[in-house]
Amino acid sequence: MTHANAELLTLARDISLRAGALIKQRRAEGVEVAQTKSAPEDIVTHADQESEALIRSLLAEARPNDGFFGEESDATSGSSGLTWVVDPIDGTVNYLYGIPAYAVSIAVVEGEPDPNTWSALAAAVYNPAADELFTAAAGAGAFLGERRLQVAAAVQLPLALVGTGFSYNSARRRKQAAVVQGLIEQVRDIRRIGAASLDLCGVAAGRLDAYYEKGLKPWDHAAGALVAQEAGARVQGLNGAAASNALTIAAEPGLFEQLAPVLDGLNVLDA
Ligand code: IPD
Ligand code: CA
Ligand code: CA
Repeated sequence: MTHANAELLTLARDISLRAGALIKQRRAEGVEVAQTKSAPEDIVTHADQESEALIRSLLAEARPNDGFFGEESDATSGSSGLTWVVDPIDGTVNYLYGIPAYAVSIAVVEGEPDPNTWSALAAAVYNPAADELFTAAAGAGAFLGERRLQVAAAVQLPLALVGTGFSYNSARRRKQAAVVQGLIEQVRDIRRIGAASLDLCGVAAGRLDAYYEKGLKPWDHAAGALVAQEAGARVQGLNGAAASNALTIAAEPGLFEQLAPVLDGLNVLDA
């Protein structure tokens, strides 16, 4: 790992731990919906806003020349060519209900803050309820705590445990459910864990064989995608496209080759 990436990784890790401790404490104090966003189901809590403000201020202090691109506040561009892509609570609905599958997701990327072209340098995904910290740096592997991660060995699609997620938009959900309906009889089973960053880290840790979702925002997948990739997963859309809002698939490369055409045949891009 380059010295520069090691420093970025340390910062991502330290800040994700601090923000994770904050949201865990707020969760213990009680959570209320602060406002709704794209749909009544698409909620934001005060803890989402507080977590993002904390992450943003710590980054501004440590890296004043970098850009910031987070879910809950306006993006700013920097002069260094690096941007921090932040989801202050991924899995907010789990957070609201007290389901212990939510995370702080922090990635630092080089280039335009666009998943189609950026190159991720370092990432941290911290689930404070489970006290699990996933980290990765480009070319330097992925880790859960101190343990190096490796995707599950190749499995055939009928034996694959596949995670996915759904949009907050009900028309989209109907189409996404139709894709699941076509897929579920072709795989071992489906999981809807409720936090895209943890789904991607789940693939890295062999807890899922594969994951796919349409409609992700950059902060949902920036950090988790690097963790999955560094654990040996292929993380892309269809036909060599970069992982993006259009589609993100993550799996061991042999399984990816089996799953992608099936999803294509189920018209996943139209979902
Ligand atoms: C959501 C979660 C969910 C995924 C949605 C995301 P949020 O993020 O990652 O698993 O299915 O697409 O929007 O709203 O909890 O930060
Ligand atoms: Ca999210
Ligand atoms: Ca979020």
